[in-house]
Amino acid sequence: MMVGPAETAAAWREVLELCRLTSDETVAILTKREANPRNVEGARHAVTDLGAQHFCLEPHIGRAPLAANKPAMDVLCAVDLVIDLLGIHLLRGGEQETIVRAGTRILYAIEPPETLIRLMPTLEDKARVKAAEACLKGAATMTVTSAAGTNITVDIGEYPILCEYGFSDEPGHWDHWGAGFVATWPNERSARGIVVLQPGDIIFPFKSYVQRPIRLTIDGGYIRNIEGDFDADFLREYMGQFQDEEAYAVSHLGWGLQPRARWTALGLLDKAQTNGNDARAFYGNFMFSTGPNTDAGGTRDTLCHMDIPMRRCSVSVDGRPMTVDGDVVAAGQRIAPPAR
Ligand SMILES: [Fe+2]
Repeated sequence: MMVGPAETAAAWREVLELCRLTSDETVAILTKREANPRNVEGARHAVTDLGAQHFCLEPHIGRAPLAANKPAMDVLCAVDLVIDLLGIHLLRGGEQETIVRAGTRILYAIEPPETLIRLMPTLEDKARVKAAEACLKGAATMTVTSAAGTNITVDIGEYPILCEYGFSDEPGHWDHWGAGFVATWPNERSARGIVVLQPGDIIFPFKSYVQRPIRLTIDGGYIRNIEGDFDADFLREYMGQFQDEEAYAVSHLGWGLQPRARWTALGLLDKAQTNGNDARAFYGNFMFSTGPNTDAGGTRDTLCHMDIPMRRCSVSVDGRPMTVDGDVVAAGQRIAPPAR
């Protein structure tokens, strides 16, 4: 059911309170013509309601990246909070890193208000994600298995931990309203094993559910073989079109911790309506991905990036179970089962 402007503004107010927005702060709302006008209006109302200053910035992003627009970058580095309604791919020119390094908080939101409201973050979400982050800190290996035949091990520790809990409350923190997961990147060339995608696993950017199993053979950090029938053919053909060996590298790996995110959501919404946030964050998923590691400070810069949330996997870190068969088991990360 569609929500109205008052409910949207109230939700924005709630998330901005979680972002600890105060009346002496200034907010830049980064927008574009195609941005969801209901989110733009909701954010503007909420910021005003909380007594903070704001302005909207609608940069033209053509061939030159936003990074080349020095006055715009200066202003984004100078504000306390950026509400990013642009879309993540426009912040891939290093802009995001520059802005957070200046201490600015960034809250990214792209989903329609109805989804944002369902995925309203809480302090418990943060605690759960932070507990998962603590397990990854200082760890040396991550192993993922499944009854379907997945068995992959990676060494970790070379790259930072990506920690998304849905709101940006600390200086220099980037977050994504509706998120709820942790991830990190494997050490260079360390990923090895087999990943078997099963019906119901989800492939981005296709925004579609796998129908037929796909078997990926991984060695030395790269996918060496893609086997299966139609779904495997489609994936192999798409990845091949980039003519880039780096497309086959294993990228960020992690698990979903957002109990209000729904595995089914992608099947119910029009593809253009959603960024697929539910799929990336649903509780107990294992998110496999391929391609770049520039987001983590690495040098692998390829245009082919696949996010692949999988169900029914068991993730362990240094041998300690985080999830078992798609259910979160680790203390501090597990939600209490519903009362009967
Ligand atoms: Fe990704």
